[in-house]
Amino acid sequence: MTKHKAVEGKTNKLLWGKTAIVTGASSGIGRATAFKLAQAGAAVVLHARRKDRLTKVAEDIQSQGGKAYAVGGDASLLSDLDILLERTLSWKESGGKYDIVVVNAGRGLAGSTLASDDKQWQELYQLNVIGAAHLMRHTAQYMVTKKSGDIVVIGSVVGRNISPFSAFYGSSKFAISAIAEGLRQEVCAHGVRVSLVMPGIVISEFQKVAGYTEDFGKGIAYMGKLLEPQVIADGICWLLSQPPHVNVSEIMIRPTGQNIP
Ligand SMILES: NC(=O)c1ccc[n+]([C@@H]2O[C@H](COP(=O)([O-])OP(=O)(O)OC[C@H]3O[C@@H](n4cnc5c(N)ncnc54)[C@H](OP(=O)(O)O)[C@@H]3O)[C@@H](O)[C@H]2O)c1
Repeated sequence: MTKHKAVEGKTNKLLWGKTAIVTGASSGIGRATAFKLAQAGAAVVLHARRKDRLTKVAEDIQSQGGKAYAVGGDASLLSDLDILLERTLSWKESGGKYDIVVVNAGRGLAGSTLASDDKQWQELYQLNVIGAAHLMRHTAQYMVTKKSGDIVVIGSVVGRNISPFSAFYGSSKFAISAIAEGLRQEVCAHGVRVSLVMPGIVISEFQKVAGYTEDFGKGIAYMGKLLEPQVIADGICWLLSQPPHVNVSEIMIRPTGQNIP
């Protein structure tokens, strides 16, 4: 009876038997998503530069009974992304395959087109657009041969509604949103789903990395409670849990009080 229940518990998990790659898993949305997908039964492969942080996330998932593997690397380096895919396929717990990739690693940049630090422009595009597109292309090529798979791309509300205060960063999210939709149209006939997730303001390390000052916090205080990374992770898990013929191709999740952008 107990044994039956345990097996039933596993098969009831919505992502049981799937292998998911999550980039940017050492912090924020990626970390929360890795936990969520592991709790839903997926074996998760974690990627980010800070290997110590990543290893801790993997250990915490394992201590909850989940399967996790940490692969350190830089998501703006195409060769590191290739290594991530190779390591995933050779990880015993992956079953020699992957079914889901969450293209999440990214960074912001404070300031308008006039005021942002243009020395960071190239680095930002290399990560948010070129690295992300490389991962999308290679995982999609693989999934087309399998005739199934999920590519979840983390865009942004500012990748749909431009704001003068983060226009350069927003442009990178416009770019990756366009690439995601073009890819969706290219691979949907092969059973591969592409989903674009556009978060509003989520409190994470994002603000510090982007260089937002205290004024940013004061300027948005009127919006009230902002989002936790978990909210986005829950949305991702929900769209991945739809039946194979249902593709939630876009989802925008904002704090209720966020009027703009
Ligand atoms: N927070 C928001 O308000 C918000 C809103 C809309 C969209 N987003 C998007 O959501 C995604 C996740 O952001 P977040 O809020 O979770 O920010 P976060 O807490 O700063 O997390 C960013 C993650 O990306 C990784 N990363 C950054 N640069 C990398 C690189 N060169 N190579 C490999 N990994 C790298 C970081 O790990 P390491 O530093 O260890 O490498 C970290 O795990 C980003 O694409 C961001 O643009 C965020």
